[in-house]
Amino acid sequence: MDEIASITDTNLTETQFFNRRDEINILSNLLISTEFNSAPTILLTGIRGVGKTALIKKIRNKFEREYLVVDIDLSRSSAYQQKNLTRASMIKIIYDSIIRSSKEFGLKTISNQIEKYFKTKNFKIDKLLSYEHIPIPIFESEDNYERLAEFVMELPQKIYEDNNDKIKGVFIFIDEIQLIKDLGDELNGFLWYMRSFIQTQKNVAYIFCGSMSLKDSLINDLNGNKGAFGGRMLTIEVQPFSKKTTENYIKSMRRNIQLDHGGFERFYKCTRGIPYYINIFAKYLPENLTLSENNISELFKDSIDYLAIHFVYMWSKLTFQEQKIIISLLENPKKRIEVANSLKVTSGSLNRPLNRLLDYDLIEYANDKYQITDPIFGYWLKNSYEKNGIYPFRSI
Ligand SMILES: Nc1ncnc2c1ncn2[C@@H]1O[C@H](COP(=O)(O)OP(=O)(O)O)[C@@H](O)[C@H]1O
Ligand SMILES: [Mg+2]
Repeated sequence: MDEIASITDTNLTETQFFNRRDEINILSNLLISTEFNSAPTILLTGIRGVGKTALIKKIRNKFEREYLVVDIDLSRSSAYQQKNLTRASMIKIIYDSIIRSSKEFGLKTISNQIEKYFKTKNFKIDKLLSYEHIPIPIFESEDNYERLAEFVMELPQKIYEDNNDKIKGVFIFIDEIQLIKDLGDELNGFLWYMRSFIQTQKNVAYIFCGSMSLKDSLINDLNGNKGAFGGRMLTIEVQPFSKKTTENYIKSMRRNIQLDHGGFERFYKCTRGIPYYINIFAKYLPENLTLSENNISELFKDSIDYLAIHFVYMWSKLTFQEQKIIISLLENPKKRIEVANSLKVTSGSLNRPLNRLLDYDLIEYANDKYQITDPIFGYWLKNSYEKNGIYPFRSI
């Protein structure tokens, strides 16, 4: 097989991508009903690093010759990166992605159709720019937003109807959907708005994909009883690899990693079967040596800065108070009042920082208590403390 996939690479080669046979079957069976006018709406959840993005890329590669697959990653959108995610920017991201995919697929007629659409609907367009012959309307006035949004949301079904000799349907994948929480007060309105279009589109399947725990409030907003999709979304949770799968995965690697029984058990405890951690750790382990439980424990400590690299970055973005909250949760989960006491502040003043930490998925709330979501984050902090005698607070 190839070298182990790097953690920034989600477009894995056939040999890098391990297993997920069941998930691929379930998703494929749901998605192909799009050809028969009953397109599903799917919510793909699972903890960070479990392999959701890699999985939908795999699905895209499998279907991209028969279906128009529109791949949207909210974390890569410039609006999100500039902290400016609004309803209008969401619509623009969706529009741009549809256009890009249509071009890539070679649906040449689409630009004529769009131009015709703008003419017949009497848009007030300031400028009609063009990108590789695809018209891009520039709207200045607010009242155009609603109409552009309507146009964009209807576009996938229209593309299907105009091209049903070339495609069996349209798949729209929206990855990192949890970032949509940035819409704040507009979030629910936007979800209901999207759902009103999505439910009428017989040949457009949607997969919303995101790293969030099942306790996340977004899941309720999306698919709870009173949520926009009111239980109509099919929720699939991608699970970490089982012990057996992890064992087979390690054996299939080109690196010759030898673990005795205790060594493997410890490896599984450290990585919890999460491919992201398995890959980083497996690259770190020495080859051609039988590793015991103790060896693995040592090597885990040595490699914690690599395993936690994502958290090192997130940590540096937190405020001092947010960092102190995390530290207070290192030993055990705590009630809000207990966190407040340990920080010597009022419980009310913790609203904002706690919500931010929840939104970042750094902590979760269960049984009345807050806890650190990913133990690797905690190990990294404890390890830094052990090594340096202090926590890596931002230097002020
Ligand atoms: N099926 C798989 N086989 C091998 N490695 C995988 C697999 N799925 C994910 N990975 C590894 O885990 C990393 C994280 O996966 P990713 O899909 O980004 O997780 P998520 O989107 O759930 O946060 C990938 O970059 C890749 O290195
Ligand atoms: Mg992902």
